[in-house]
Amino acid sequence: MAQSPDSVFTPRAATINPDMYVAREDLEKALRDGLNSQQHLIVHGESGTGKSWLYKKVLADLKVYFEVANLANASRLGSITNELRNLVSRDGKAEKTGYSESKSAGFDALAAKAALDHTGQYEYGQKEPFEACLSAIRCRAGKRKGILVLDNLEAAFTDAFLKELADLLILCDDERYAEYGVKILIVGVPGGVREYYYKTPHHATVANRLRELPEVSRLTREQCTSLAKKGFEQALGYTVESPSAVYAHIAWVTDRIPQMIHEYCLEVANLVHKSDRVITTESLNKADELWLAQSMYHGYSVVEQHMNERDTKAGRRNQTLFSLGCTDREQVKASDIEDVIRRQFPNSTRDTTLNVTQILAQLAKGGQPVLKRTPKGDAYTFADPRYRMALRAMLTKSTEERVEKVPLANT
Ligand SMILES: Nc1ncnc2c1ncn2[C@@H]1O[C@H](COP(=O)(O)OP(=O)(O)O)[C@@H](O)[C@H]1O
Ligand SMILES: [Mg+2]
Repeated sequence: MAQSPDSVFTPRAATINPDMYVAREDLEKALRDGLNSQQHLIVHGESGTGKSWLYKKVLADLKVYFEVANLANASRLGSITNELRNLVSRDGKAEKTGYSESKSAGFDALAAKAALDHTGQYEYGQKEPFEACLSAIRCRAGKRKGILVLDNLEAAFTDAFLKELADLLILCDDERYAEYGVKILIVGVPGGVREYYYKTPHHATVANRLRELPEVSRLTREQCTSLAKKGFEQALGYTVESPSAVYAHIAWVTDRIPQMIHEYCLEVANLVHKSDRVITTESLNKADELWLAQSMYHGYSVVEQHMNERDTKAGRRNQTLFSLGCTDREQVKASDIEDVIRRQFPNSTRDTTLNVTQILAQLAKGGQPVLKRTPKGDAYTFADPRYRMALRAMLTKSTEERVEKVPLANT
């Protein structure tokens, strides 16, 4: 029964802990619907948002048989095909039945097949690795649905890999490959894979075979609280004082990104585990310092470089940084930030112009910018999603409307 914090909060665990899994109904439903469609699927979202846990949970619940090919490995091994070969031979179950020319291949499929053949990396008389992989999945799945997951697409987001991926998807329509009835689930960071295929004339056909599910992103407040609560109260048996303040703070500093929630809560749990096992807002202050010094160190130092050194112009740049931390949206415009600054710092902004446009432009400059311009150029996003978390944990506002940084803990 006595669990340790790091068996409860697992920011980097590849395997799901069902006791800690928080249901995400909309996303789970979108994935289930997608599995019933004729298309192959794309699950996308920033790193740490829970893409891998999501598909593992849904596929396991549906008792679907799936194999995961890691495209980070493909990048290391030189091609997706090599990772597929790796996948099949790992369990030593590759069937070595002879392979025959396809009778039914359309032009696309033939071209795709030729492209793969040219890799020339499989022995004659064996199924080529992709087919061997589909065949193995079908064999192991029996009557169940079979899925081949290609995870971490971002690790292979180059023209060569995308071309290979297109070839594989086209091949799936070839009768011989289609026979295995294995669906492909592509998982990765870039939201624009599908657009990539739309823009590439030869691959327009591929775009029609793909369905992009809604973006996997931060949890809702309720989901975030439920996650922290499961861990602290149910699994670890701690007492949480002023729970609403505690859970609101956790949602705030972690930006409700699942991996960050685990990481931060682990910090908190380690602080109280060997003492009174009571979590207070005081424990959170301590955890903020430790978290900044460890996980947020990079963000901390980047933000620090952009802060006003001395107390110039009411520290407008610091107020802007603080206000950026207050925002919740993916993209911000100067006018949005100006509103936040005026609301957060009413006394020092009364009857003054703020030049927010200029300050934001500065924050998007230099070797380590905090912001980057959106492709359209009319708004900004954080250069790294962690910067918002760093801002929230590191900046404080005094009653005189001055913004200061929390010193780093000595670890
Ligand atoms: N639905 C969830 N409920 C609870 N924790 C989750 C959930 N999804 C993800 N996590 C946590 O976040 C971490 C990162 O999730 P993961 O699925 O690996 O993200 P991604 O694949 O998007 O990078 C996991 O190790 C787990 O600790
Ligand atoms: Mg993942």
